[in-house]
Amino acid sequence: MAKLRSQYVCRNCGAVHAQWMGQCSNCKQWNTLVEEVRDRVEERQGTPASIRQRDQRPVAIADISAEDGPRIPLGDRELDRVLGGGVVPGSLILIGGDPGIGKSTLMLQTALRARHLSTLYVSGEESAQQVKMRAERLGGQGQGDGSNCFVLTETNTQNIFKQIEGLQPGLVVVDSVQTLHTAVLDGSPGTVGQVRECTSELMRFAKATGIPVVLIGHITKDGAIAGPKVLEHMVDCVLQFEGDRDHAYRLLRPLKNRFGSTNELGIYEMQGSGLAIVEDPSQVLLGDRGPRPSGVCVAATMDGMRPLLVEVQALVSSAVYGTPQRSATGFDLRRMNMLLAVLEKRCGFRLGQKDVFLNLAGGFRVEEPAIDLAVVCAVLGSNADIAVPMDCCFAGEVGLTGEVRPVTRTEQRIAEAAKLGFARAFVPKGTKGLPTSGPIEVVPVGRVDEVLGHLFG
Ligand code: TYD
Ligand code: MG
Repeated sequence: MAKLRSQYVCRNCGAVHAQWMGQCSNCKQWNTLVEEVRDRVEERQGTPASIRQRDQRPVAIADISAEDGPRIPLGDRELDRVLGGGVVPGSLILIGGDPGIGKSTLMLQTALRARHLSTLYVSGEESAQQVKMRAERLGGQGQGDGSNCFVLTETNTQNIFKQIEGLQPGLVVVDSVQTLHTAVLDGSPGTVGQVRECTSELMRFAKATGIPVVLIGHITKDGAIAGPKVLEHMVDCVLQFEGDRDHAYRLLRPLKNRFGSTNELGIYEMQGSGLAIVEDPSQVLLGDRGPRPSGVCVAATMDGMRPLLVEVQALVSSAVYGTPQRSATGFDLRRMNMLLAVLEKRCGFRLGQKDVFLNLAGGFRVEEPAIDLAVVCAVLGSNADIAVPMDCCFAGEVGLTGEVRPVTRTEQRIAEAAKLGFARAFVPKGTKGLPTSGPIEVVPVGRVDEVLGHLFG
């Protein structure tokens, strides 16, 4: 195929240049030029016939059927739920995450276990033997003999399309987008121009053929390799696979979903034979609930739509050095400093000369402010060296005046705590519709000081 001519477009101002330059001559920004195809008509000659032949016409909105089209279940309960009930035909899904987190594992095991679909696993990172070895490792757990899953080690998009045309699979997985390259651009694989162009080719391909495509993409801290960030607006669905590499738990979080809610959350555990669905996350996170030393308490948080009880651990000790140390794992350090300032100024606790360490058990990260109350109780419990009873749990945002502010879905949090056998739940005062009777005692609190009165007398 004849090489197409490309041009370099500034991502900042849109100025077009014939050559790559470090600095845009128009807006003077550095490193903003991206290679793009100059002529789309010419380029189309390189795309498969099935795409070219389809003509689209305008349709009156009244004539479009409102039904949520058929979805294809992938057979992985968590993945299907996170996607909004299976994949939509012709959709392009991007799964992003740090290297080594388990993206390839998740997609390969899904491809192997979806025995009702023929799947094509395009691997640009590993050889067919390596994929086979991984598949052997993933054996068992309802997996077929692998006759439905085809492996292709190819990175050129035009060749990939040709193979897909021949095979007609029900699902295509591309691992990873950073290894793809298209003949229409000069840049090497992984550059912003290549990644974007390959993704848009895949998008048009998926839409034209109705075959859903899952793209795997690495997120790198430095901008050297174009990460999935530049693709987010192009694809239908962005799932983030995250977790702490030192822990076994992995979270699958939708950042964008054109066909479903972004409030879902999938939880997996990395095992020796692949990723297993975590049936009862709170139970796993809390472990055995025997007596604990001071500084530990349980927060009733929500991760998406699902209530999740998490153990918060704090350690407060006298500072050895002049400047006290503050560190938080799984929690925003600035927010912890703010809570410490509230305790100091509004509640009269002297924490200024104390080291404070905070940790969420299980390697989880909680962003929502409803965990504040548990953080405050853990810190004060450790400071006074009094253990908080382990049958209590907490939900509430702490404001700058020391008031406990309402949080969302309080009933759902209480219900989850009751299910797990907690005896008391501390929730913000003024929350409507709280259960007055039942297995769990609900204690509404208006200020941080009130909770302390209840707990430490
Ligand atoms: P991988 O899927 O290769 O990560 P990614 O594609 O996101 O870069 O996962 C690699 C890690 O997972 C590696 O450290 C080994 C571990 N692992 C298991 O613990 N169990 C398994 O069954 C498999 C296949 C991998
Ligand atoms: Mg991988």
